[in-house]
Amino acid sequence: MTNVLLIGFMGVGKGTVSREIVKQSGVIALDTDDIIESMENRKIKKIFECEGEAYFRNLERQVATWLSHSVRDTLISTGGGFYKVPNLQLIGTVVYLYSDFDSLYQRILDHPNAKGKLKKRPLFKELNKAKELFNVRAPEYESLADIVVDVRDKNAQQIAKEIIKKVMK
Ligand code: S3P
Repeated sequence: MTNVLLIGFMGVGKGTVSREIVKQSGVIALDTDDIIESMENRKIKKIFECEGEAYFRNLERQVATWLSHSVRDTLISTGGGFYKVPNLQLIGTVVYLYSDFDSLYQRILDHPNAKGKLKKRPLFKELNKAKELFNVRAPEYESLADIVVDVRDKNAQQIAKEIIKKVMK
């Protein structure tokens, strides 16, 4: 298996699906936001607050370079804006988790810690702006994807199974 990258908008369930794929297949998994938080020893929210978005995007590009040179046979979940790094497809097979905006927003609201989920995401501060961002990004995600998985009305187990079958066998 080459690397498999999960891309998609905030709240679509990239982390949850990644954990479920690990459970079902035993693959090793990394998350680009986790790597950045470890590099910086602070939370994404703090990085945005103290250094601004451009600084964070530069860290994403550094992580992308490291992944493409040094990481193999790994499942990689990404932050919602990671797809903008140059040469994304050189890192691995790109899987886009698709949901419409209202469904993914509802998915966040349904979480017992919905407030925390929204608070840790600086770009979800204003609903209208998040929706605008979604509309800009949706076609961009799609054009980069090797495969698109529609996650609506499916649970994490079903989505994981579908991804394993399509790209990890
Ligand atoms: C971002 C998404 C976040 C995180 C950062 C920026 C984005 O990750 O990387 O807040 O630009 O969409 P999630 O997609 O895991 O929320």
